[in-house]
Amino acid sequence: MFSVTSTRKLPGRRLSGFYQDVINGLKASQKYLSSKYFYDEAGDKIFQQIMASPEYYLTRCEMEIMQHQSGAMAALFDGEPFDLVELGPGDATKSWHLLRELIRTKAHFTYYPIDISSNVIGWLEDKLPVSLPGLQMQGLNGEYMDRMEYVEQISQRRKIVLFMGANIGNMTIQQATLFCRQLHDRMRPGDLLLIGFDLKKDPGTILAAYNDRQGVTKAFNLNLLKRINRELHADFDIDQFGHYPVYDPGTGACKSYLISRVAQQVHIGDEAVISFSENEAIFMEISQKYSLQETYYLARQAGFSPVHEFYDSKKMFSDILWRRLP
Ligand code: TRP
Repeated sequence: MFSVTSTRKLPGRRLSGFYQDVINGLKASQKYLSSKYFYDEAGDKIFQQIMASPEYYLTRCEMEIMQHQSGAMAALFDGEPFDLVELGPGDATKSWHLLRELIRTKAHFTYYPIDISSNVIGWLEDKLPVSLPGLQMQGLNGEYMDRMEYVEQISQRRKIVLFMGANIGNMTIQQATLFCRQLHDRMRPGDLLLIGFDLKKDPGTILAAYNDRQGVTKAFNLNLLKRINRELHADFDIDQFGHYPVYDPGTGACKSYLISRVAQQVHIGDEAVISFSENEAIFMEISQKYSLQETYYLARQAGFSPVHEFYDSKKMFSDILWRRLP
């Protein structure tokens, strides 16, 4: 077995977590790359283009929900002062509407956005207090569960947790169940959780969102190979890989693959050599779609009870509010 730790290190360079993850993924029998590495500077820009593409309905649907139903959401949050914890806020353009509504209705709350990227947190701490005067906030940089425990240490108030966008979709149902259970264990009975679910719908509509005509999603996937070339000194020939998304309407799993067009070898740094056979696939990402029934089942498995579903006008996407059970 190939072992990175036993090999000679590159002169003057430490083997990063990124390197280790890439090697582990590409040495696996079913090759994969972790989608958390999509979002470098170029990846962030391409993702903006995905969100603006005509086929990618998710962001627009959730934006519509937040623009029109933040008032109803805020009403359901009514009660004792609370901590509003947002996991993976991005640029918070969607939660912004809810924050504004909570400030307008004089809710007593502190906003804690949690993100693995310190850039995201720094940016939010600069921008939000300006566009939302009166907002109490503290950005937290780190892993979700660890930072949730920190919030619990510094504040005894009830918690309302936001986990929006396609976030839960980027886990398998099994991973999502485990993840929601972990959230449950860090919340108290009566605490609320708002989760975004992309719903099962016309399979053609779903597949098109991950296979846009302009090729932006393809570029997004290939950008990770470019990043590996640049940061890990690899020699992927980008033109020798194709993009292949699939949607299975039975399971609701939409998966993105890169396919090696030819048998080829790729070098990563001085030591690692990865062999691809012709048409071998690299699994890039899952985007799981749910029926309403499946969200009920997930809630029950994880120890929550559904309170309310918020839909866009076409019922393509739903932000669902759950209450944590005793
Ligand atoms: N993860 C997001 C989603 O599931 C963003 C995304 C869109 C994406 N297209 C992608 C991630 C293709 C990886 C590959 O909708």
